[in-house]
Amino acid sequence: MKIREPSVKEKIQELRKIREDAKLGGGKKRIEKQHAKGKLTARERINILLDDNSFVELDPFIVHRCADFGMADKKVRGDGVVTGYGTIDGRLVYVFSQDFTVFGGSLGEMFAKKVCKVMDLAMKTGAPLIGLNDSGGARIQEGVISLGGYGDIFFRNVIASGVIPQISAVMGPCAGGAVYSPAMTDFIIMVKDSSHMFITGPEVIKTVLGQEVDFEELGGALMHMQTSGVCHFMTEDEEACLELIKELLSYLPSNNMEDPPVIEMGDDPNRVEGFLEEILPDDSDKPYDMKEIITAVTDNGKFLEVQRLWAPNIVVGFARLNGRSIGIVANQPKHFAGALDIKSSTKAGRFIRFCDSFNIPIVTFEDVPGFLPGIDQEQGGIIRHGSKLLFAYCEATVPKITVIIRKAYGGAYDVMGSKHSGGDINFAWPSAEIAVMGPAGAINIIFRKEIAQAENAEEKKKELTANYREKFANPYIAAEKGYIDDVIEPAQTRPKLISALEMLITKREARPSKKHSNIPL
Ligand code: HXC
Repeated sequence: MKIREPSVKEKIQELRKIREDAKLGGGKKRIEKQHAKGKLTARERINILLDDNSFVELDPFIVHRCADFGMADKKVRGDGVVTGYGTIDGRLVYVFSQDFTVFGGSLGEMFAKKVCKVMDLAMKTGAPLIGLNDSGGARIQEGVISLGGYGDIFFRNVIASGVIPQISAVMGPCAGGAVYSPAMTDFIIMVKDSSHMFITGPEVIKTVLGQEVDFEELGGALMHMQTSGVCHFMTEDEEACLELIKELLSYLPSNNMEDPPVIEMGDDPNRVEGFLEEILPDDSDKPYDMKEIITAVTDNGKFLEVQRLWAPNIVVGFARLNGRSIGIVANQPKHFAGALDIKSSTKAGRFIRFCDSFNIPIVTFEDVPGFLPGIDQEQGGIIRHGSKLLFAYCEATVPKITVIIRKAYGGAYDVMGSKHSGGDINFAWPSAEIAVMGPAGAINIIFRKEIAQAENAEEKKKELTANYREKFANPYIAAEKGYIDDVIEPAQTRPKLISALEMLITKREARPSKKHSNIPL
């Protein structure tokens, strides 16, 4: 009997069938299970993330090569991760989306190869990489090969750092050493209640330490947002997570050789804000909300805050001024009076380094009484951690504009984008107090004897404090020395910032060539 060769048409039909089957991943039942957990599938996530019909898939036919533990009979095309490229707001991005319905999204040799392929393409073409994580970690059946696969991804994460933006969404489990890939990317977004990140899970902790802890407490989104600082953004659900990735990308260039996109926002660059004259309490020891100043000056009051719940004594995030992306760093007097501590220094230091890597100018709003005093802080290494922030400011060569709103005391004055740490334009409000320390602390040190000998110590203190305040707690001494370029009216802050930013936009500043610096870690 003659066997008939399939026609070309039949071969095309077969291709279509294989492709459609591959799209089902681990099958309908597992997809239903995924939905029942309130989670979308890997492909549904990509469809929401990318512009309509822009996704181009790569490697849909890949299967694993493992024959152990009965795996030879269990092959699913795509091997548990959907990879490819597409556009967001018309701009090229690369994406990998782990498919929990296939071997729990676990990573083996071929899975890792797929991820590495899009990472390599992203590097070659200079476009952001977005990872959607939902995985049981290393594929146990593949043993050390899967560890090697992770290692190949980690290596690429590091090489890509500072070259292309890397964004990680954690939308399910992310455990063991697997957490280090997201951790080495620029931003981690976690979905409330359905994502977890930890190095060792509750079972191991119970066995080794005898401690009982649940997934949420150990590695839930809220914990990482509030306590560990691992997570940069937390969203209520997956859709919000995917929308946030788009918003974040709108502030970023596609790579380190480009400038961020300029987006016309329709907000008058000369807009003055009278209410900024009223925002500060008369008593300079009273708090106010720094975010009100930020949103009063940015385009349409928009501000995308990063690490909102961790180290709230410093506020960092992205905004626009006359359409141009800026990174904002601001002390927050509502928490610890805006003092710098270990966490806030680390938070702002890393943010500044991100902005500097990707040509995003830094605008600093300063109201800082100094570094937070305390045994915990000293023993915890505030010297080492605080120097990260100073290092980051000094190292950054992007345009740096600082506005001293109120306090700028002590070492913190130098640190927070001062002229001496390379500030390009330094403004102060007339309410600025720039000195080695606040009046109360200062007079207790320099007039200790006079106060002790005074008939009425309290009266003497009041008199000395008033003298000190008049002499030092103002912006004019610093302005006389040129440390402050201008003392500006609060209402004029937006036009002044925009004018400075546009003047600085062509700024080029060279540093001595070296392999890399040695930031205190
Ligand atoms: C292979 C895995 C897997 C894994 C899950 N599966 N994790 N297969 N390797 N690591 C499979 C399950 O067998 C199951 O297959 C399917 O995925 C779904 O898993 P369930 O357990 O049914 O799902 P759920 O109840 O939601 O629990 C999810 C989970 C759990 C919490 C992630 O599966 C789990 O604890 N997995 C192991 C996690 C782990 O310890 N990974 C190693 C971490 S160490 P079927 O066929 O039934 O659908 C690590 C080192 C990386 O990753 C080091 C890098 C340097």
